[in-house]
Amino acid sequence: MAQLIDGKAISAAVREEIREDCEKLVRETGVRPGLAVIIVGEDPASQIYVRNKEKACQEVGFLSRTYRLAADTKQEQLEELIDELNRDKEIHGILVQLPLPDHLDGNALLLRIKPEKDVDAFHPFNVGQIMIGNYDLAPCTPAGVMVLLEKSGISVAGKRCVVVGRSNIVGKPQAMLLLHANGTVTIAHSKTKDLADLTRQAQVLVVAVRHPKLITGNMVSEGVVVIDVGMNRDEAGKLCGDVDFDSVAPKASYITPVPGGVGPMTITMLMKNTLTAARRAAKEI
Ligand code: GUN
Repeated sequence: MAQLIDGKAISAAVREEIREDCEKLVRETGVRPGLAVIIVGEDPASQIYVRNKEKACQEVGFLSRTYRLAADTKQEQLEELIDELNRDKEIHGILVQLPLPDHLDGNALLLRIKPEKDVDAFHPFNVGQIMIGNYDLAPCTPAGVMVLLEKSGISVAGKRCVVVGRSNIVGKPQAMLLLHANGTVTIAHSKTKDLADLTRQAQVLVVAVRHPKLITGNMVSEGVVVIDVGMNRDEAGKLCGDVDFDSVAPKASYITPVPGGVGPMTITMLMKNTLTAARRAAKEI
């Protein structure tokens, strides 16, 4: 039976490190990390994420500002707000909560955020830096996965890593981070033929496709490390991942549960990125 990777415990430990580092930064430079979150409309899941971000900021001692805007907010208003936050010395990280209402051009908004304040690491400048391997801001979820692996003492160097999913938020950057850690990486997606053939070759398997219980026990090999990024509801309305935990766990060496695996790490890495951005700003004062 697999060892569980306890994302809650690892996240709490990393947050404590961030809280101490924040205190030190304030003491030594007078700079307190500040995060601005922009949320447009009433998407219920987004409301919960944003509240959790506020709580996390409080926990680690950051300044937190949330801009809750009406669903019919105009593109120009958002661009003006981003310009203002780009200039704001108290704010080191700017995050536009996704998804956005359809009438808004999310890409244009991402491009508007100063790359130094882009704590999601979604701006093409940061995406390029990640590709090159010269980055200190990495997208929160894939970065959180790397921390889970490290803190569990799992090295991916030289191992066959399979990432299922090719989104800009998780799959693609995850593949790059694993590659930088010297994994041999394959990306699978909805058009991949013989997915099971490929996943059976994986020594490290990261799944991020938003498809409940896609990966079943017969699709993995004995001893695989399984990281489940999925967050879905099953037929009974119960939270579940992209991995069928009950059939996969007996074959895996390590596995993340859902909930309590990758989920708690994402916001923790957002705090880490905000701290990194604030430290950089403090050096430039
Ligand atoms: N919505 C769901 N996940 C994310 C994320 O990582 N960043 C942002 N900005 N919005 C999200």
